[in-house]
Amino acid sequence: MAFFPVFWRILAALITSLLIFHRFSSAQSWDPGYTFMHQATTAPTVAFYDYIIVGGGTAGCPLAATLSQNSSVLLLERGGSPYGNANITDLAAFGAALSDLSPTSPSQRFVSEDGVVSARARVLGGGSCLNAGFYSRAGHDYVRLAGWDARLVNESYQWVEKVVAFQPPLKQWQSAVRDGLVEAGIRPYNGFTYDHLYGTKVGGTIFDRNGHRHTAADLLRYAKPSGLTVLLHAPVHQILFTSRGGTRPKAHGVIFTDANGLSHRAYLKRGSNNEVIVSSGALGSPQLLMMSGIGPIEQLQAHNITVVLDQPMVGLGMSDNPMNAVFVPSPQPVEVSLIQVVGITHNGTYIEAASGENFAGGARTQDYGMFSPRIGQLSTLPPKQRTQEAIDKAVEDMKALPQSAFVGGFILEKIMGPVSTGHLELTSRNPNDNPSVTFNYFKDPRDLQRCVDGIKIIENVIESKAFSSFRFDSLSIVTLLNMTASSPINLLPKHANASRSLEQFCKDTVMTIWHFHGGCQIARVVDRDYKVIGIDSLRVIDGSTFRNSPGTNPQATVMMLGRYMGVKLMRERHATNGPK
Ligand SMILES: Cc1cc2nc3c(=O)[nH]c(=O)nc-3n(C[C@H](O)[C@H](O)[C@H](O)COP(=O)(O)OP(=O)(O)OC[C@H]3O[C@@H](n4cnc5c(N)ncnc54)[C@H](O)[C@@H]3O)c2cc1C
Ligand SMILES: *[C@@H]1O[C@H](CO)[C@@H](O)[C@H](O)[C@H]1NC(C)=O
Ligand SMILES: *[C@@H]1O[C@H](CO)[C@@H](O)[C@H](O)[C@H]1NC(C)=O
Ligand SMILES: *[C@@H]1O[C@H](CO)[C@@H](O)[C@H](O)[C@H]1NC(C)=O
Ligand SMILES: *[C@@H]1O[C@H](CO)[C@@H](O)[C@H](O)[C@H]1NC(C)=O
Ligand SMILES: *[C@@H]1O[C@H](CO)[C@@H](O)[C@H](O)[C@H]1NC(C)=O
Ligand SMILES: *[C@@H]1O[C@H](CO)[C@@H](O)[C@H](O)[C@H]1NC(C)=O
Ligand SMILES: *[C@@H]1O[C@H](CO)[C@@H](O)[C@H](O)[C@H]1NC(C)=O
Repeated sequence: MAFFPVFWRILAALITSLLIFHRFSSAQSWDPGYTFMHQATTAPTVAFYDYIIVGGGTAGCPLAATLSQNSSVLLLERGGSPYGNANITDLAAFGAALSDLSPTSPSQRFVSEDGVVSARARVLGGGSCLNAGFYSRAGHDYVRLAGWDARLVNESYQWVEKVVAFQPPLKQWQSAVRDGLVEAGIRPYNGFTYDHLYGTKVGGTIFDRNGHRHTAADLLRYAKPSGLTVLLHAPVHQILFTSRGGTRPKAHGVIFTDANGLSHRAYLKRGSNNEVIVSSGALGSPQLLMMSGIGPIEQLQAHNITVVLDQPMVGLGMSDNPMNAVFVPSPQPVEVSLIQVVGITHNGTYIEAASGENFAGGARTQDYGMFSPRIGQLSTLPPKQRTQEAIDKAVEDMKALPQSAFVGGFILEKIMGPVSTGHLELTSRNPNDNPSVTFNYFKDPRDLQRCVDGIKIIENVIESKAFSSFRFDSLSIVTLLNMTASSPINLLPKHANASRSLEQFCKDTVMTIWHFHGGCQIARVVDRDYKVIGIDSLRVIDGSTFRNSPGTNPQATVMMLGRYMGVKLMRERHATNGPK
């Protein structure tokens, strides 16, 4: 008789775990109903936590989820929730958010001083809510040079992948790019893998098989709800410091505002392991340090900011990996695809591709996509000429095109590194404003050489046998380069001069692949444990700490870093406090 209760209990447990597993791995995008997520307007005027994380982005979310296991954590995000917004969750809407220039958009456009139009995130989940989804790990050398514990790195990638990474459905056009890369000598073919290996491979994606996006915000499912408070529309204006009688400044709280403009304070509880952690992204993190008094003294004084630490390195080392692409019209229909295949070359360049209307179209009525002028991509004019008027004109010109003009795809290259660096400057004391940023694309000749090598490899892919059914034999490479470099929009032929040399082609057609980083670099602004040099209880953990962009595309490593540092901090805390 006792058998039945036990049986039912086991069955119930089984069903429950199946349900939980199903929910966890569900291919549908769903509102997770996070009980710990609130609007900042509901927050008390003053509250206390063990950790205060500024920026609920690609690194901030996995970090907060991890730390919440054993501590009280406040995660402050200046944007709103990604859930229920089809512009974020649907692959087919790629570019919709990027072309939405309203102040409530999850994407905030910025134009670098170089003239390249770009975007930074303003939403829980950060850049993982806007990006093209490609998911690929950093190489072993990168991990070794960073001084990371390789085993914990592996475990942290896996923790991320369980929730957000998928194998893409490879169709004809992407397969032709893959085979063309192999034919062009980018060998071996490594199949589908997240690993960074020389040769050609199919990488992962954060879009599931139904085209639903899974973002860093989904990693908050791992959080312990009682340990976490997430506040939305909560821009942080300042980190607060204590320093008694010439001792090192110590972070002890932050000031943030809510949507009604009311000011709130959050402080660290007493405790030696408690910290403020800045995860505000490549632009946001150096910006917030400067607004809080850590940065080059002339800049701080120019904005009447009380100097906490004169640190000339904050905002230096800003880099963006240049992206250049060639449009290849196709005589036959192609699938809609974002990046799936990558060629990892020995020449310091990565070859990727996007096809179908999505590169520029998504339904003709919308014209969204990775290479659409609507999102600011305009390779047909040199960067400095890409004014809003020029962009508007390109959008109009595109509307006049026949459907057939959109059949085809872009093969792109992104160079590693890059070597060239620039700088960031404050424009105001408002965290909602963009700082001014200069990337100095191709300033270093090594970057230019890598671009030229990449274009040559792209030419070989286009001319490969494998790719033959997706190109017009009547269109020479020169014509294709002319089209990409000088037509009214990224895909119309027009005879001009930009193809006179590949060097000039690289400079004139440079776009961004949005992998910008730096600003709070390791060994300059933070030490190898991501602690801000010269300050106590303050770290920066996100893409602003990178000197080079990791892997072929950074998001896997940014998410991994959030988890990785969360585990490290939890272990440190445990070692100091001992078991309770
Ligand atoms: C359009 C696009 C396409 C991309 N494509 C790919 C791709 O296919 N594959 C890939 O691997 N990578 C891609 N990337 C790059 C990748 O998404 C980014 O490198 C990564 O998301 C950066 O993460 P982060 O944590 O450093 O910053 P973010 O994710 O930007 O996080 C910073 C967060 O901090 C918040 N914040 C900033 N300041 C404050 C403040 N003062 N107070 C409160 N909150 C603040 C911001 O709102 C933001 O949510 C792409 C990026 C973009 C934009
Ligand atoms: C989605 O994007 C479109 C086009 O950019 C914009 O008009 C619309 O307001 C956006 N919707 C949401 C929910 O953000
Ligand atoms: C990490 O994982 C990769 C494969 O994904 C493997 O090649 C490597 O040996 C692993 N490293 C460690 C230290 O576990
Ligand atoms: C700085 O303070 C001075 C004196 O109060 C004022 O004149 C100036 O406008 C301020 N500058 C900024 C950028 O706020
Ligand atoms: C790329 O590097 C390989 C090996 O170093 C070299 O043989 C090849 O010529 C280079 N390709 C280009 C286009 O520069
Ligand atoms: C490409 O542009 C150059 C420079 O204007 C021009 O001389 C050449 O005829 C064009 N070639 C093709 C094939 O369009
Ligand atoms: C076009 O390129 C040729 C060399 O190929 C050069 O002599 C000429 O000056 C260029 N014209 C312009 C307008 O750049
Ligand atoms: C949490 O802290 C307790 C007590 O310090 C410790 O025993 C436990 O191992 C910690 N858990 C994690 C996941 O670190």
